[in-house]
Amino acid sequence: MALREIKNKKLRRYRKEFPFIQEITFLNHASFGPIPSRALKSTYEYYEALTLQKVVDMDKLTFERLDLVRTYLAKMIKAKPSEIGLVPNTSYGLNVATNGLKWKRGDKVLLSDVEFPANVYPWLNLKRKGVEIKFIRSRNGFFDIDNLLKTIDSRCRVLSLGYVQFFNGFKNDLETIGKICQEKDVFLVVDGIQGVGCVDLDVKKAKIDFLACGGQKWLLSSLGTGFFYLSEQAKRKIEPAFFGWMGVDWKLNFTDLLRYDLSPFQSSRKFEIGTYPFSTLWTMCSSLELLSEVGTKVIEKRVLRLLDLLLNYLKDSPYQIKSSLDPMHRSGILSFSGKDTARLFQILSRKKIQVSFRENSIRVSPHFYNSFEDMEKLICLLKKA
Ligand SMILES: Cc1ncc(COP(=O)(O)O)c(C=O)c1O
Repeated sequence: MALREIKNKKLRRYRKEFPFIQEITFLNHASFGPIPSRALKSTYEYYEALTLQKVVDMDKLTFERLDLVRTYLAKMIKAKPSEIGLVPNTSYGLNVATNGLKWKRGDKVLLSDVEFPANVYPWLNLKRKGVEIKFIRSRNGFFDIDNLLKTIDSRCRVLSLGYVQFFNGFKNDLETIGKICQEKDVFLVVDGIQGVGCVDLDVKKAKIDFLACGGQKWLLSSLGTGFFYLSEQAKRKIEPAFFGWMGVDWKLNFTDLLRYDLSPFQSSRKFEIGTYPFSTLWTMCSSLELLSEVGTKVIEKRVLRLLDLLLNYLKDSPYQIKSSLDPMHRSGILSFSGKDTARLFQILSRKKIQVSFRENSIRVSPHFYNSFEDMEKLICLLKKA
């Protein structure tokens, strides 16, 4: 008990990072996460350094911070920093895989039929190379492993799947799916954006070959940030479709630029092609620092406890729960619908409770700094609506 109180006190301390909380009940991290105050401060410091020309060795400072970003991200998903590449969004990351793998006519790619479009169009673009795209039928909006087993055959080269489903929060059992893919020699690609930063993930245990993730949601970072993970074992299977001068190792010595004989990085950095958006990566670095201080296990536990409050109410209410209640498939997203869900969404918005309206459901997605009072406020309005 004493320990829980201390932990809660620690979490309460972090609420000052989100100065809007007295005004707005923000339960919408599956859409865009807010930028913590410390990340705003460091972004400002970056621009201030440029405006006032305060920092002498900007190159060193910025590249060191990128290393830190890769290190935080690697720690979060239990990978190595050398397996992390920085990209501007999930879609770019997925394209590193779709365009980097070698294809032949008749190859098959498996997708879920309830996938966010970011993880569909890059694969559909392979049709022009004669690749067949097959959608695995879901059950009640949830990915179905039995249907995967029925569909998978010797022509399947890739399965690409969201870690957490975007409108109902179904967390896929990636360890089981990864095992199946390994046995069938299928390359496993994961869109991590609705899980990473909120629910725990061990990419090694799940035998993920490639993961792409934008920074703008649960990672509380700015638009234009994201990363991919390419496992060391899988890296020989992907060639850079785009290649540029940041993909080779200058050893931070940018004085001898007319030599063109440098080799690509051995690490995932070889896919990073040009000058970085340092300012947004500074934002990301501070947001990741904050998430790393709290820790994903603590975040996950806290978010599930917050959602438990809502679940307990919804179970005996006129609303229909759209998310899985199975503990192994729960995540930071809980969805439900009502008699007039569109109207309900408007009522909540008017009362400054921010959630999403997706596929005719209300999608609620709190983060670790939300309070029980935030959830009670939502429940109170649901009772009245
Ligand atoms: C599951 C999922 N993947 C990807 C995205 C976004 O992709 P990108 O970062 O490429 O815009 C979203 C939401 O915006 C999403 O919910």
